[in-house]
Amino acid sequence: MIKISPSILSCDYSKMGEEFENMKRCGADWLHIDVMDGHFVPNITLGAPLVKCLRKCSDLVFDVHLMISDPQKYIPDFAAAGADVITFHIESDSDVNETIETILENGCIPALSVKPGTAVEEVFPYLDKLGMVLVMTVEPGFGGQGFMSDMMPKVKKLREEISRRNLTVDIQVDGGVSLKTIGACAEAGANVFVAGSAIFGSSDPKATISQMKELAARYF
Ligand code: DX5
Ligand code: ZN
Repeated sequence: MIKISPSILSCDYSKMGEEFENMKRCGADWLHIDVMDGHFVPNITLGAPLVKCLRKCSDLVFDVHLMISDPQKYIPDFAAAGADVITFHIESDSDVNETIETILENGCIPALSVKPGTAVEEVFPYLDKLGMVLVMTVEPGFGGQGFMSDMMPKVKKLREEISRRNLTVDIQVDGGVSLKTIGACAEAGANVFVAGSAIFGSSDPKATISQMKELAARYF
């Protein structure tokens, strides 16, 4: 139930294959792949062709976070490249229901994300069809930003709604998640934790991942 998904935004892009293999050795459950288009967010990262190459380097779940303006257009490409979970933003230009359908048709797990300024209630109408909701704990675009603890009430509200409706939807948090902040996230009801700088910046990523799991497990 608890999953740690290292964000590869903070890895060394000159040796991504090795970094992926190392994350598996360190106990990562998923790999969080941040896709940015320079339009939805003010940064550009990578596209489906690179994900396809990286697929050869790892059998971990590819947790693809699309921070792009028109996610629906690119779902088939990312699915064919080997994505497992595909997260898109409710604030994007694509139709939410159609994009969820396209993700399902392409054999992936659909997830919907809210930026800090978006009310979490906006995802409630789609919860039945989703495998996961991502509550951003920083403004999307860059790694290494400060954790927004004022997002925790959103996580709590979402967990209550999921429980009330007897659903099994994962709640992911992304941005500033570290040994210091993971406890608050888990206490609020999150169970999938993305961490970039906290893991790749650690001198002992294996210990960091195992401590993160331990800290989160206190609330399950
Ligand atoms: C930010 C990305 C995150 C980012 C997290 O827009 O979605 O996945 O890499 O980085 P840290 O954990 O360093 O805040
Ligand atoms: Zn992300």
